[in-house]
Amino acid sequence: MKQSVKQTVLLTGCAGFIGSNFIKTITCRADVADKFDFVIVDALTYAGRLENIQKELDSNKHLSFVHADIRDSQKMHELFKKHNFAGVMNFAAESHVDRSIESPNIFVETNVLGTLNLLKESLALFEKNPNFRYLQVSTDEVYGTLQMEDPAFTESTPIAPNSPYSASKASADLLVRSFFETFKLPTVITRCSNNYGPLQVEEKFIPLMIKRALANEKLPIYGTGMNIRDWIYVDDHNEGVWKAFTSGKAGEVYNFGGNSERQNLDVAKMILKHLGKPESLLNFVQDRKGHDFRYAIDYSKAQKELNWNPTVKFEEQGLLRTIEYYRNLWAK
Ligand SMILES: NC(=O)c1ccc[n+]([C@@H]2O[C@H](COP(=O)([O-])OP(=O)(O)OC[C@H]3O[C@@H](n4cnc5c(N)ncnc54)[C@H](O)[C@@H]3O)[C@@H](O)[C@H]2O)c1
Repeated sequence: MKQSVKQTVLLTGCAGFIGSNFIKTITCRADVADKFDFVIVDALTYAGRLENIQKELDSNKHLSFVHADIRDSQKMHELFKKHNFAGVMNFAAESHVDRSIESPNIFVETNVLGTLNLLKESLALFEKNPNFRYLQVSTDEVYGTLQMEDPAFTESTPIAPNSPYSASKASADLLVRSFFETFKLPTVITRCSNNYGPLQVEEKFIPLMIKRALANEKLPIYGTGMNIRDWIYVDDHNEGVWKAFTSGKAGEVYNFGGNSERQNLDVAKMILKHLGKPESLLNFVQDRKGHDFRYAIDYSKAQKELNWNPTVKFEEQGLLRTIEYYRNLWAK
């Protein structure tokens, strides 16, 4: 991103898990704060908590917050007109697969139509500013599922989403791609594996397992627990997102992975072991409908083009840090 004077970037969905960590670790860095102001827009759904970022908002003049919904095209129009953004980073989404199976409509409304609103407003600003950038935070789930013997997803793996959540994210990715191909809007898409770390809503796998274990309650394990996820520490992911935004090539997709493929059952057992709880708390429940078996990410393009690497080791560092964070939060 070329610039000389301070520029304003729109961040959506940054009261949620990944975005609030992005506020803490990236936007508050001196080199970033010197160059950019950030306007954070969040609808504060059940997954967004203003208290996640209140300290940063109170103590950093270059951050401001607007309570707004990306589905609201008029509000987005007014916001873009007022701030003349130099770029957009879209973290906002409905993000839980189980909820998308129960109630898919909101996933299309926010993830697809909300993204379309941002793209249309971005295009209007790009027409006045050729250095405008748009970054879409996406997911490896758009690639579908792998078997054990399959190679990891690369950026050229065909999109084959299986859940309403991943279908909505893939649809948004295709719209982003179309704005690059049709209008040359400088877009970048990032696709990452499962994030873990502080400030995640308890419905997601790792905080749910920790919460149940701390309360000596049963830990629900879908199916046989053999499904495999690659885990990336949230700070590693956010470093990659920032690199992609500032130096990724327009029109490109970048994968980010944690080099940490683990079976769900093993992760649950690690949590129990660390908390000194018995494996009898494991409770095998009916499998998720259409449950993807395995995700694995080839992130060599980000290594080569963005000089990015995951730095946090899963068992030895990230998981322990995460367990301690939630233990302090919940163990009373
Ligand atoms: N968590 C993961 O493991 C993971 C993995 C891959 C990709 N992603 C993607 O990363 C992004 C962030 O995920 P997360 O885990 O932080 O999600 P999250 O559910 O924790 O947070 C989502 C945020 O978006 C906000 N939001 C939802 N609908 C909105 C709307 N209509 N308008 C404005 N704000 C709205 C919520 O209030 C919340 O603050 C999402 O795009 C998600 O698809 C997440």
